[in-house]
Amino acid sequence: MIREIAELGHPALRAAVEGVAWPLSGEDRGLADDLLETMLGANGVGIAAPQVGASRSIFVVASRPNPRYPDAPSMEPLVVINPEIVERSGEIARGWEGCLSIPGLRGIVPRHRRIVARFRTVGGEQVEREFVDFVARIFQHEDDHLRGLVFLDRLESSRDLVTEKEYLARFSPPAGDR
Ligand code: NI
Repeated sequence: MIREIAELGHPALRAAVEGVAWPLSGEDRGLADDLLETMLGANGVGIAAPQVGASRSIFVVASRPNPRYPDAPSMEPLVVINPEIVERSGEIARGWEGCLSIPGLRGIVPRHRRIVARFRTVGGEQVEREFVDFVARIFQHEDDHLRGLVFLDRLESSRDLVTEKEYLARFSPPAGDR
């Protein structure tokens, strides 16, 4: 089921989440399915539970080329539950981000270029995985949502913020061109 996306100003975006208990409840499994469906419907590459008003420690990372990010790498959508980032590279990369909860804006956000995260998959498996570059960026963006943070909170300057219209006209590379 596609759920309504909460936008900046909705209190759920600023609330702390609760950890998810195991075995996964029907409600949490339904939430994971709905997050995936809602994200795909909105052409996103990630979405977190607070963005649909649910204060639960779940998000989806699903990098793929799409109209909003034409040169994003492809991956199987990954449901991430109760994540913890256990390693962060010293190397910081600045890159463009947008957010389904903040329509019409893009900003240049500094993120760790490489992270290692521990989390549970939707099947219950406890895993530790490394992510780099764009996928690491999505992971950190979604992880922030679980802490009541949005990308605006990570900007170095409000001058790094542009509208989507100007972003597409001036800063978005054509598909396949990096
Ligand atoms: Ni977001």
